[in-house]
Amino acid sequence: MSFDLVIRGGTVATAADRFSADIGITGGRIAALGHDLAGADEIDATGKLVLPGGIEAHCHIAQESASGGMTADDYRTGSISAAFGGNASFVPFAAQHRGMGVTETLDLYDSRAQGASVIDYGYHLIIADATDAVLREELPAAFARGVTSFKVFMTYDRMKIDDRQFLEILSVARAHGALTMVHAENSGLIGWMTDRLMAGGHSAPRYHAISHPAAAEAEAIHRAVTFARFLDAPLMIVHVSTPEGADIIARARLEGARVFAETCPQYLFLTRDDLDRPGMEGAKFMCSPPPRDAESAAHIWRHLAVGTFSLFSSDHAPYRFDTSGKLAGGPEAPFNTIANGMPGLAVRLPLLFSEGVRTGRISLEQFVALSSANAARIYGMAPAKGSITVGADADIAIWDPQETRTVRLEDQHDAMDYTPYEGMELTGWPVTVLSRGDRVIDGGRLVAEPGRGRYIARARPDLGAAAPRPPAELDPARAFGADLLGRDG
Ligand code: URP
Ligand code: ZN
Ligand code: ZN
Ligand code: ZN
Repeated sequence: MSFDLVIRGGTVATAADRFSADIGITGGRIAALGHDLAGADEIDATGKLVLPGGIEAHCHIAQESASGGMTADDYRTGSISAAFGGNASFVPFAAQHRGMGVTETLDLYDSRAQGASVIDYGYHLIIADATDAVLREELPAAFARGVTSFKVFMTYDRMKIDDRQFLEILSVARAHGALTMVHAENSGLIGWMTDRLMAGGHSAPRYHAISHPAAAEAEAIHRAVTFARFLDAPLMIVHVSTPEGADIIARARLEGARVFAETCPQYLFLTRDDLDRPGMEGAKFMCSPPPRDAESAAHIWRHLAVGTFSLFSSDHAPYRFDTSGKLAGGPEAPFNTIANGMPGLAVRLPLLFSEGVRTGRISLEQFVALSSANAARIYGMAPAKGSITVGADADIAIWDPQETRTVRLEDQHDAMDYTPYEGMELTGWPVTVLSRGDRVIDGGRLVAEPGRGRYIARARPDLGAAAPRPPAELDPARAFGADLLGRDG
């Protein structure tokens, strides 16, 4: 039997195993794992690692920010940058803004993505306007079209939901088997700090970090976890930056809560000292939550190693260091008017490989789990995505574990004018990326056409074994005999 394509002689790794095998690919899918397979086309992977294509599960593409600015990357540049970084699919956000319907929002993002992406894509829905129609009709309709995860914000004046709306969204998501994601920071605390700093004339980028204290994240994570446990609803806490926050999550998980978490490169590789660079340079490192200190980063690394975090995502939120982006408010814009976010699509995985796998902080299998397999399962894309197994999509990244490169802006292939990781020397890079058996990146070159990427209608999240039932006092259904949770799923 001859396959369309054979990847020969590499070391294959999944979230569970590593082994040497050839991979036979036919019709865009993995058809066989074996030895001495023959194909019409072949890739020699001797000395290389053959991994499931990365899944970038948190990035902002062709999206208006909370302050109204448009991201620099669209679905063409964003998907190309992601592919250069070893990703074969990505899940950006479709952001509802107040006054917009959800169906209207998803239609808008379809028009932005169609014909543009080089890799497969889906969306998480951002809910900023939780009207009755959204809760009762539009969220179920979004779920039916394959958008099975909903992000809410506890901060940002134009995006934030209140506690009641949060409970409502958690319970609707729970009833449909969807996953709620949360940006957990206390809005009042940040606003109060910001006002005091500004009143004192402290408007430089470094004060952004001070205005978003660790306590703001810890309080909000605690509240979010409390609500999720109260309703026995699953929850994903995105971009966790603090030891305090991670400890609350670890404890809740230990106690059986269906709480999941994500961290990002900025919380491992950057610190608030980066915001204190001369002039306005610090604006390049402004994101929310902000980078913390080196001790916090070391603590977050340990949580990554022991499994507190299921996901390691870039939170690529690209605003250029010019008047189209960070400096839209002027050359000395006060920190509270500067767009939050930084790029990272193309370096997320090389950073984790070089500083995680090569240093022994995490195993290669953990790397696959954090970069691909967990996102596939948690966001309803398995078994087609996230593994190297017969029948799965041939979404594959071939890595050279020995190659050393210096991070350079020109190798990001995004629409940005800086990378926060400029000059870092990393060892281990993706050299070839396949999406459904098609070469997207080959020998460091883009070889795919925009528009070949397909929309992924995602299924219900697979969150593993059912959690134990919550204690009776946290279970209104048992406590009061009333069906407050809408238990249909
Ligand atoms: O600063 C950030 N992270 N900007 C992107 C929006 C978000 O909150 O994820
Ligand atoms: Zn966020
Ligand atoms: Zn801890
Ligand atoms: Zn984000």
